[in-house]
Amino acid sequence: MQQLWSDIDCFIEKHLTPQDPALSYAIENTEQQGFPEHLAVAPNQGMLLQMLIQMNACKRILEVGTFAAYSTMWLARALPEDGYVLTIEAREKHANLAQQHIDFAKKEYPATIELKLGNAVEILKMLPEDTEAFDFIFIDADKQSYPEYLDLSLKLSHSGTVIVLDNVIRAGDILDLDNHKPSIEGIRETYTRLQNHPRILSCTALQTIGSKGHDGFAIAIVK
Ligand code: DHB
Ligand code: MG
Repeated sequence: MQQLWSDIDCFIEKHLTPQDPALSYAIENTEQQGFPEHLAVAPNQGMLLQMLIQMNACKRILEVGTFAAYSTMWLARALPEDGYVLTIEAREKHANLAQQHIDFAKKEYPATIELKLGNAVEILKMLPEDTEAFDFIFIDADKQSYPEYLDLSLKLSHSGTVIVLDNVIRAGDILDLDNHKPSIEGIRETYTRLQNHPRILSCTALQTIGSKGHDGFAIAIVK
């Protein structure tokens, strides 16, 4: 089925993905420099993030896990001039790659994009007390730490903040209770925390199939 899923993603992309030099540069340069491209979101998934941001007229965005900043492009291109994206990447190699794409994107998009290199838990804990809450948060870093990222994200949220978590299905690995990989345990614990959380108004998870295989997004609205 993977070929069909990829062909359909390709069809959707051809019809619906806008021509955008910053998006193209990020994809092409990632490939040219030999980085794995499967870590990035698919274009139709990026567009979904953009639309959630537009629907909610979000201005302040937090991304945990930059990789090549391809998803960062989708977050940033949805924002007006006074928009701001803070994106955090733990791996220096990835942050260097991402910074090239962000530098390019700064000429294309009006919003401010800031990349911080380091451990997201430490960086988020060290943000100044008076840091304004974020309107939209995209969690897409090491899956093992998702529960911690979720807790920290909730602290940096206001009523109505939308939180999206990538890769919450992992081709069904989450159902295999013999699978004790830290990443899978991390995702399972994230579901447990999302369930009946006093600070979450509503929450769901959607399975996705396509060029990136079988995975999914969890989406939560903060109470
Ligand atoms: C992996 C991580 C991701 O965030 C993703 O979207 C796909 C794959 C990974 O670590 O394999
Ligand atoms: Mg991901």
